[in-house]
Amino acid sequence: MGYLVITVAALFTLNIYAAVTMRTLAFSAQTTSMHAKAQMLATALSNLEALSTETAAATVHSIEDVHADRIMVTDQWGYVIYDTEPENSLQGRLLSTEAVQLALKNQDVVDCKYENAVLQSCATMPVFTGQELTGTVCLMDDDAEQGEMIDAMQTNTLRISLVLAVVILAFSLIFSALYSRRMRRILDSVRRMQAGDYSNQIRIRGNDELVVLADEFNQLANRLQVSEQRRRQFVSDASHELKTPLASIKLLADSVLQNEMDEETVREFVGDIGGEADRLTRLSQKLLELTKIDGHAVEESTCVDLRQIVRRVVRLLTPLAQQQDISITEHVSDGCTVMAQGDDLYQIVFNLMENGIKYNVPGGSLDITVSHTEQSVIITVSDTGVGIPEDAMEHIFERFYRVDKARSRAAGGAGLGLSIVHDMVQRNGGTIRVDRRKTQGTCFTVSFPHVFQNHEINERSKS
Ligand SMILES: Nc1ncnc2c1ncn2[C@@H]1O[C@H](COP(=O)(O)OP(=O)(O)OP(=O)(O)O)[C@@H](O)[C@H]1O
Ligand SMILES: [Mg+2]
Repeated sequence: MGYLVITVAALFTLNIYAAVTMRTLAFSAQTTSMHAKAQMLATALSNLEALSTETAAATVHSIEDVHADRIMVTDQWGYVIYDTEPENSLQGRLLSTEAVQLALKNQDVVDCKYENAVLQSCATMPVFTGQELTGTVCLMDDDAEQGEMIDAMQTNTLRISLVLAVVILAFSLIFSALYSRRMRRILDSVRRMQAGDYSNQIRIRGNDELVVLADEFNQLANRLQVSEQRRRQFVSDASHELKTPLASIKLLADSVLQNEMDEETVREFVGDIGGEADRLTRLSQKLLELTKIDGHAVEESTCVDLRQIVRRVVRLLTPLAQQQDISITEHVSDGCTVMAQGDDLYQIVFNLMENGIKYNVPGGSLDITVSHTEQSVIITVSDTGVGIPEDAMEHIFERFYRVDKARSRAAGGAGLGLSIVHDMVQRNGGTIRVDRRKTQGTCFTVSFPHVFQNHEINERSKS
């Protein structure tokens, strides 16, 4: 409607402008022509020795170029001494128009007006005989032809404007109906999505912003659908993982209660219950860790020296490695410092090394190397373990994914360690890669941007 109102206002203005311009042009042409004619006549009359009815009539008739509907000549008091109009002749009467009064005061007066589709014009001028003002001459002309032209022009412009207005109105109605229909489809889909249906895709044709909006919406719906599926999967996996140790605890506790057991067996059962409780604690810790990462919680980043981290992890995992007859070798270069949030680096190194021990073979080895280039610090954790099959490689960082479920569960794993590592590496601006070793085992390579410490910067600037 707003669009329409603006268009109609523009057309209306255009109409008025065209009409006014047309009239002004016609008036100006007519004024010039009438002034020239009156001038010609006044000059001719000025050449007379005396101004009288006869001399005036003779002069008017002698000038053929002057065409006007009516010509009147007055004396110096304004009395008409000659009138070309035979009927209603004003001859002998006083012509007391304002134009004659002004002409008697030595002024040229030309007047134009448009009335009843006729362009009416009147030119009045003083006449001098010698130096003396002896009368006036007054020319009147009604130009119906020009009047009709102005009229036709106004009518045509109005008609064209009306047709244009109707076309614009029709176009606006069709356009807004189409637009609203497409808009309603988008709105419909948004409502469905609000109700939890993410499968609905908007299909609209065209080449405008609505199509872009629909595309963006479809992508958003796809993403939400995927994340909703993931969330459901996560909840179901997590409850399954929680259920297993709880069921074991229940079974073990029932056995202790219901069966007559010697003290040794009871100790064994209670020890198993403790083991399951430990597993539950580890699981809930990892779930909490994941929730923190998913919630995009940002902890303060600090400059971490990887030497300290690797030492701590090796110290902690050495007993486990010894139990399984696995040798650990570490090699950390100087100046391997990176910026990392909280204790992310510790968790990353711990999880990778723990896996290297858990999925190793007796008598195997685990190597951790930390080195750096100008730009990056590179951590490699490689083992001589069971390795990861080719088809499992792409799933390795997914939540709750385990290659050998039985082995992993026996080792107390829930399949969350690597996904936590992956997310932590990402949130600290690093990258992670996994490769199968040529001989046997697996190699994880993690890379972070290298951060120089103050003393290193000083040494570099000196050198
Ligand atoms: N170094 C490795 N060698 C062989 N297989 C591995 C290695 N690291 C991981 N895997 C496989 O990838 C799976 C996922 O590892 P991830 O660390 O995510 O889980 P997990 O060790 O089973 O449990 P969690 O770490 O949560 O206690 C493991 O179950 C294992 O099958
Ligand atoms: Mg693990």
